[in-house]
Amino acid sequence: MARMRTAVLVSGRGSNMAALLDATADPSFPAEIVLVLSNRPDAGALPRAAAAGVPTAVVDHRAFADRAAFEAAMQAELERSGVELVCLAGFMRVLTPWFIERWPDRLMNIHPSLLPSYRGLHTHERALADGVRIHGCTVHLVVPELDAGPIIAQAAVPVHATDTPDTLAARVLGAEHQIYPRALAWLASGRVRHEAGRVVVDAPEAGGMLLSPGSLPDQG
Ligand code: GRF
Repeated sequence: MARMRTAVLVSGRGSNMAALLDATADPSFPAEIVLVLSNRPDAGALPRAAAAGVPTAVVDHRAFADRAAFEAAMQAELERSGVELVCLAGFMRVLTPWFIERWPDRLMNIHPSLLPSYRGLHTHERALADGVRIHGCTVHLVVPELDAGPIIAQAAVPVHATDTPDTLAARVLGAEHQIYPRALAWLASGRVRHEAGRVVVDAPEAGGMLLSPGSLPDQG
């Protein structure tokens, strides 16, 4: 079966992108990464992608008069590469409904919290300030409302009394690297059904994951 032609949109270091590249390096994986697109020319993800032999593109948002022009340029890059599915991985621009509507059920994001808790930024600081005992990450379809799309995959990790935002972020990041490739495999192989605002995944292993601290690397 043809592999789903996938782009990863990044703005930063690209550890989730690297996890997706590692998983898709297996020819039996149902998606292949055909483009890594960054809105920042200095994103660490770009040399990482290039080192893996994956085509890269930069669409610098600062070069465009407005969001519409920026997104039209991104869309043109994606179409030029024959992209069928898009993964946001630390992509730090808010997308407009125009762009999102170009990718119905074909646009995913990873967010570092157990949504719907902690939408937005600084999720680890806020979780620590609230004293929660369980934190985690979510892969979801993108809808115009920020961090609010139907959930495809989640993983939970414990919060330790000694955690700092950095130690908690590292634990969550290890979980991110496990669930994002799985979510991509499910979406690319047609096992994600979007019904009435929620997602049903047709895969036996699709329940939420509880990851014990010992099962995760501390660094992403
Ligand atoms: C991750 O924590 C992701 O959940 C969030 O931004 C961070 C990106 O990290 N959206 P990386 O660039 O994938 O290393």
